[in-house]
Amino acid sequence: MKLTSVLLLHWLPLLYGGVSAQGNVSAVFDDPITGYLNQPQVTQNFGQSSPFFSLAQNNSDATPPGCTITQAHILSRHGARFPTKGKTTTIKTALAKVSLALTNATGSLTGDFAFLNTFNYSLGQDNLTGFGQQELFNSGIKFAKRYEAAGKGLAPFVRAAGSPRVEESALNFTMGWNSVVAASALIDGGSILVISEEEGVNNTLHVESCPAFENTAPFNELGDTEDQIWIDIFAPPIRDRLNANIPGANFDVNDTVAMMDLCPFETVATPTGEISPVCKLFTDDEFVSYSFLQSVDKFFGDGPGNKFGSSQGAGFVNELLARMTNTAVQDQTSTNTTLDSQNATFPLGLALYADFSHDKQMISIMTAMGLFNGSVSLGGLKSTDRQTSVTSGFSVAKLTPFSARMYFEKMTCEGSAEEMVRVLVNDAVQPLEFCGGDALGRCTLTKFVESQGVAKSGGAFSEC
Ligand SMILES: *[C@@H]1O[C@H](CO)[C@@H](O)[C@H](O)[C@H]1NC(C)=O
Ligand SMILES: *[C@@H]1O[C@H](CO)[C@@H](O)[C@H](O)[C@H]1NC(C)=O
Ligand SMILES: *[C@@H]1O[C@H](CO)[C@@H](O)[C@H](O)[C@H]1NC(C)=O
Ligand SMILES: *[C@@H]1O[C@H](CO)[C@@H](O)[C@H](O)[C@H]1NC(C)=O
Ligand SMILES: *[C@@H]1O[C@H](CO)[C@@H](O)[C@H](O)[C@H]1NC(C)=O
Ligand SMILES: *[C@@H]1O[C@H](CO)[C@@H](O)[C@H](O)[C@H]1NC(C)=O
Ligand SMILES: *[C@@H]1O[C@H](CO)[C@@H](O)[C@H](O)[C@H]1NC(C)=O
Ligand SMILES: *[C@@H]1O[C@H](CO)[C@@H](O)[C@H](O)[C@H]1NC(C)=O
Ligand SMILES: *[C@@H]1O[C@H](CO)[C@@H](O)[C@H](O)[C@H]1NC(C)=O
Ligand SMILES: *[C@@H]1O[C@H](CO)[C@@H](O)[C@H](O)[C@H]1NC(C)=O
Ligand SMILES: *[C@@H]1O[C@H](CO)[C@@H](O)[C@H](O)[C@H]1NC(C)=O
Repeated sequence: MKLTSVLLLHWLPLLYGGVSAQGNVSAVFDDPITGYLNQPQVTQNFGQSSPFFSLAQNNSDATPPGCTITQAHILSRHGARFPTKGKTTTIKTALAKVSLALTNATGSLTGDFAFLNTFNYSLGQDNLTGFGQQELFNSGIKFAKRYEAAGKGLAPFVRAAGSPRVEESALNFTMGWNSVVAASALIDGGSILVISEEEGVNNTLHVESCPAFENTAPFNELGDTEDQIWIDIFAPPIRDRLNANIPGANFDVNDTVAMMDLCPFETVATPTGEISPVCKLFTDDEFVSYSFLQSVDKFFGDGPGNKFGSSQGAGFVNELLARMTNTAVQDQTSTNTTLDSQNATFPLGLALYADFSHDKQMISIMTAMGLFNGSVSLGGLKSTDRQTSVTSGFSVAKLTPFSARMYFEKMTCEGSAEEMVRVLVNDAVQPLEFCGGDALGRCTLTKFVESQGVAKSGGAFSEC
């Protein structure tokens, strides 16, 4: 009991930069996109569809005094996007029910529902929105301000997983970086190494590298199964209210979630993230439940709740260790030995690296690294109880919002003979208690490398 509370006290303020676990949000917004900033209680509860927000407070992400960054990496999720193909289908299904109800209706919808009388769905699919491009542009500027000096006048080496939204995110990041750095550090957009997401390709920036996971129940269905448990708990009262206000719509719980999905997607489809009228159909508390649904999905789909969660992140961690120790990659999982053995595609000895990926893969990488070991364990999240997201600290709105980013830093510090390592998630310094992290989240490089046994052994990858 005592141990638990000590761990929580130590861990939560670091991970969330002091944001209270009850969702009292006072995070510092450092992105110069303004539309959504006045309603954080809504937009920070959109799960992985939340616009980026920084978890730093009062400069808590500053480089420790007396330390100089010697190497820095960013691992970034793509920016805000349109709904995927699957979501587009479920949203259109729900909206078709609205249209049908309106066709039959004797009068128009009123109040907060009135906008539906003339609503036209016109979102794109899969790709970045303009807002999402801007998120990455801003991230490039921020990375430059933080790390350009560490790069000693050179550009970062950039890789991207091969889907249009990820490639474009990398490009928009470089545009932001290029807008502020010295001429010698400009990144040539054409030099970005794109690694295909086609089946059968080894790609450390993409899940789906483990066939057993993709094709074997229960592991490939765990996320969806657990999702449905929570949907069937939280959505029925919302469904009933929607059906009462849109007579004849006949929404089921899945349509209800689809209508909630529409809110973040309409919001990030505007240039500045103006809150969509769709959002007004739901309460703030209902978005807390919605956000928890997304956490359940990732926890059991790709994170600590899935046997193969860490396996899929191991390859990237092994590449990170290689870059940090300036030695060849040692990995038996998802790395491509052809790419990783050549300087042109895997240069060692650079100061700056930038990688672009997806939320699922980032959750797997965090899991492999052990970032959730402090307070989240298997079963740490219960799909019947959203409060477990608070007690476990596992919230995808905070871990992998659009344009989420991890920074991995190496630094020399006065008073320490050895180089130190820090990890930040959306500007929140991680405690790294598994390698003896100090009050500023620093471990020695040796202890950090030693701690990464899961990546070195590949997790359960031998069963992939
Ligand atoms: C940030 O600084 C303000 C003003 O000094 C202080 O009131 C607040 O408690 C600090 N917040 C954190 C999380 O340290
Ligand atoms: C949130 O934090 C603010 C400022 O620290 C405080 O005034 C307010 O009472 C808190 N709200 C809740 C719900 O805890
Ligand atoms: C929706 O589309 C129809 C047909 O294209 C058009 O007549 C109508 O003005 C549009 N409504 C709105 C609100 O844009
Ligand atoms: C996404 O963008 C790519 C590249 O610009 C384009 O080829 C593709 O058609 C777009 N996809 C959709 C669904 O709009
Ligand atoms: C993002 O990149 C695209 C090219 O893919 C470009 O058209 C767009 O202007 C860029 N946006 C920003 C904000 O950099
Ligand atoms: C590894 O990378 C090489 C070079 O890009 C590529 O030709 C090959 O298909 C890749 N193999 C796998 C298994 O990913
Ligand atoms: C619409 O009205 C038709 C004809 O009255 C009826 O058959 C149909 O069930 C109604 N549909 C809905 C969704 O209410
Ligand atoms: C919602 O979708 C799930 C998964 O496709 C399905 O199993 C379930 O029956 C659906 N629920 C309803 C009420 O249609
Ligand atoms: C791709 O990964 C598999 C599984 O770890 C491995 O057997 C294979 O050698 C890798 N291929 C390349 C080109 O690295
Ligand atoms: C290795 O690649 C890096 C980055 O592209 C480049 O700066 C460096 O000159 C290359 N080194 C050699 C020995 O080719
Ligand atoms: C995290 O916990 C797992 C499961 O207990 C363990 O195998 C792994 O070594 C831990 N990771 C770190 C970095 O300590």
